Amino acid sequence: MTDDSRMGSPTDDSNADRPALTDRQGHPVYDNQNQRTVGARGPATLENYHFLEKISHFDRERIPERVVHARGVTAFGHFEAYGKWGDEPISRYTRAKLFQEAGKRTDVAVRFSTVIGGRDSSEAARDPRGFAVKFYTEDGNWDLVGNNLGVFFIRDAVKFPDVIHALKPDPVSHEQKPARIFDFMSQTPESMHMLVNLFSPRGIPADYRHMQGFGVNTYKWVNEAGGTVLVKYHWMPKQGVRSMTEEDAANVQAGELGHATKDLYEAIRGGDHPEWELLVQVMEDGEHPELDFDPLDDTKTWPEQEFPPKPVGRMVLDRTVDNYFAENEQIAFGTGVLVDGLDFSDDKMLVGRTFSYSDTQRYRVGPNYLQLPVNQAKNADVRTNQRDGAMAYDNGARNANPEVNYEPSITGGLREAPYPGHDEQGPEIQGRLTRKRIPRTNDYLQAGQRYLLLEDWERDDLVHNFVTLISQCDRPVQERMVWHFLLVENDLGLRVGEGLGISPSDVSHLGPLDGQTLTDEDRKRLDNLG
Ligand code: HEM
Repeated sequence: MTDDSRMGSPTDDSNADRPALTDRQGHPVYDNQNQRTVGARGPATLENYHFLEKISHFDRERIPERVVHARGVTAFGHFEAYGKWGDEPISRYTRAKLFQEAGKRTDVAVRFSTVIGGRDSSEAARDPRGFAVKFYTEDGNWDLVGNNLGVFFIRDAVKFPDVIHALKPDPVSHEQKPARIFDFMSQTPESMHMLVNLFSPRGIPADYRHMQGFGVNTYKWVNEAGGTVLVKYHWMPKQGVRSMTEEDAANVQAGELGHATKDLYEAIRGGDHPEWELLVQVMEDGEHPELDFDPLDDTKTWPEQEFPPKPVGRMVLDRTVDNYFAENEQIAFGTGVLVDGLDFSDDKMLVGRTFSYSDTQRYRVGPNYLQLPVNQAKNADVRTNQRDGAMAYDNGARNANPEVNYEPSITGGLREAPYPGHDEQGPEIQGRLTRKRIPRTNDYLQAGQRYLLLEDWERDDLVHNFVTLISQCDRPVQERMVWHFLLVENDLGLRVGEGLGISPSDVSHLGPLDGQTLTDEDRKRLDNLG
């Protein structure tokens, strides 16, 4: 064709070796610049297959972003086991195969994320960070879906939509408002530990490579004999931990909203492969009435002197994504994705999370999200009788008798896996169905200990951040927050109170919130307010 009106259509010979464009049916596209029209000035016709396909596919290029953790970045690498927990063989605690032999490698995908902002929001925001790891083990996938702060705002999954609504923009004006955030937090004393972390410099990690990760919820390990222990997971970056102040963050985001993604990509592509060590705290399985907290409470950390974290392996990231959408937008993690030797605890957040992840992924990605390459259990044999549904393509083709999509059968379909010789683990449980808070809430002690561990400049930063934001709230919210902070640590309450013009005697008339349990220490502090 030599028609000059086909502006931009490459015609020179240097393009002759390049593969030709087709539509998705494999038909060659001879003209990608002009629609088919009646005459050069239109009108257009409806049988424009190439044009209609191109536009209608474009119209559907976005899937819903994650309801939380929408902005993130994925990288790939491996986990290498040490085969031990401290000086002991790890098999004493877990039979999970990936941990057993020193030097054993398992492929991983990791997605780091912020929580509240949308898909293109700033990575320098004050916000918890997600740290989700998918281990592609020979026993199927294991997902460890954690954050960088070690604790969480709430301890019961039924409150998750509320805490996220308070943190997300106002549904009327779409502004993120401190007044809404602290309105909710002021009525949620279990959030104090998380707030002390989040509003200190730790709340804005410098980037993803210099960030810790924590499983946060309590899980179990199960050994060959069916014996169980409670565990908490920690990722420690070999690169060290770095954070930013508000001022640092403002400077970074003035130039680049995605600095942490860029940093990760540049490091990995430049051969500077980031590494984290996985450490695990172990506690005897049980209620532990001797502790001043409940081991299943995700607003608490376990004291490291009593429950020393011990290294069990290391993880190296050495590959970035080939396609951001396929491997970052469509990757799907969930707390229910465990392998033999790893198990749930009764942590009331964990059960709620376990439902929520696959539920949202069926909506966000589609019911066959587990057939996508990044989500497949690629190092295990997957053979199910689940078939069909939107976008299904792997309909049992790997089964020897794909026509038998039911079980039991004597005609050669899939059978149940041979019994492993160990029963479901777990204690006998008896109790009334009820709706009750856990008895040992102890909402202030660890928040106060955390405050005292901060360096002076970090405490100044924390107080400054609280005063700046809480001054934008209604007076009753300000008073309640000062009341909580006085119970967390006198110094924190006095300093935030001073910044807001609220003294302890101004809040001494406030009693505990409805249903709130106070410790003897909390009561002593309350008595001293007036
Ligand atoms: C993502 C729910 C608590 C870490 C998500 C998503 C949902 C969700 C619906 C989006 C998943 C997707 O679209 O693929 C919940 C609920 C919680 C809870 C209901 C409490 C009951 C937590 C906690 C942590 C956490 C305590 C940290 C320990 C993450 C991470 C992601 C995520 C890292 C992003 C995963 C990714 O990169 O794809 N959560 N979450 N969540 N959540 Fe939670």
